[in-house]
Amino acid sequence: MSGAKTGNTTSVAGVEQHHCSIPLSKLIFDEEMKNAAIDALRNERFVMGESVFKFEEEFARYCGTEYAVSTSSGTDALHLSLRALGIGNKTDVVTTPLSFVATANAIIHAGAVPIFADIDMGTYNIDPNQISEKITRRTKAVMPVHLYGHPAYMESIMEIARTRGIKVVEDACQAHGAEYKGLKVGAIGDAACFSFYPSKNMTVCGDGGMVVTNDEKVAATVAKLRDCGRETKHVHGAVGYTARLNTVNAAIGRVQLTRLDGWNERRRSNAKLYHYLLSDLDGVVRPPLEDSEHKPVFHLYVIRAERRDKLKEWLEKEGIQCGIHYPVTIPMQPVYQKTFGFAKGKYPKSELVSETCLSLPMHPHLKREDIKYVCEKIHEFY
Ligand SMILES: Cc1ncc(COP(=O)(O)O)c(C=O)c1O
Repeated sequence: MSGAKTGNTTSVAGVEQHHCSIPLSKLIFDEEMKNAAIDALRNERFVMGESVFKFEEEFARYCGTEYAVSTSSGTDALHLSLRALGIGNKTDVVTTPLSFVATANAIIHAGAVPIFADIDMGTYNIDPNQISEKITRRTKAVMPVHLYGHPAYMESIMEIARTRGIKVVEDACQAHGAEYKGLKVGAIGDAACFSFYPSKNMTVCGDGGMVVTNDEKVAATVAKLRDCGRETKHVHGAVGYTARLNTVNAAIGRVQLTRLDGWNERRRSNAKLYHYLLSDLDGVVRPPLEDSEHKPVFHLYVIRAERRDKLKEWLEKEGIQCGIHYPVTIPMQPVYQKTFGFAKGKYPKSELVSETCLSLPMHPHLKREDIKYVCEKIHEFY
């Protein structure tokens, strides 16, 4: 089996480049999406066309929320929902150190301060016990991330938030369609945010985002802020932003949304096969599968591996593209160290994951033979 898959290596400007035949992820763009895009370009306004509002309606229905408001990115969705909930002005928002940097950037964009609470090693999501310890009188919100598509412990988080009188904004940018205790993520917090960046479980084939909420006022405020603060054509009630989703992207998003459940099912089935084929390896810790409370969507399939960097190098030489999500925790990013004075050792669990995690190929069109090949190569390495 191995011969056909081997990746070749070339040297570009002295740097070794591996050409992988099993990619980490794959964007799906088919005829129906292309036709929807062309149709929108030909027949609708480029900005705030009909597809934008239809996409919002359909996305809200999918999540089981009253409202959905699209934005130009997941980062904007997070930023504007915090603003709409009245969070900013040097208040604190508790979040996880292990996420894409945009999670914490959005808190700073809103004028608040990110306070990090370390993760739980079973799911790599924020640990509710750590959240409680970080809440002070300045804390106005918690922003859990459903990392890698695995739902965070929302029941405990909501209970802490309600008891302490603070808001919850779910960062669901990696978790379209995931469920927690039978509810779609996004339908649990005061607001929730999604990204449609091309690598996500569904995309608009460009940048894009969505805020979902059951709070009419929050939805109306996000809708105003994303559109220059506009209340009516020439009346601006807030200092807003140009953060709208383009019509052509919304048209593609509508088609992608109809495929999401099928794609997520295939991701879960891929994860089950990985789980089974990697079960006898001492050097590998596998991510949690679905259980009675958590229905993940495996945006990424992330293992923790002994000699991670060597394993990555070996797999890439064998034609298997891998990723690291994330090699640097948010507090250890240079700008966060410089701004807030964070030093190594403060969030040991997140740091341990960043030093050992490895994302294996995961997408709906990954073949079972490909997964078997990846696992064979991991076995060979150890
Ligand atoms: C967890 C998380 N939060 C926020 C974002 C930001 O989304 P966007 O890239 O659409 O701004 C991303 C996307 O990469 C993400 O993965």
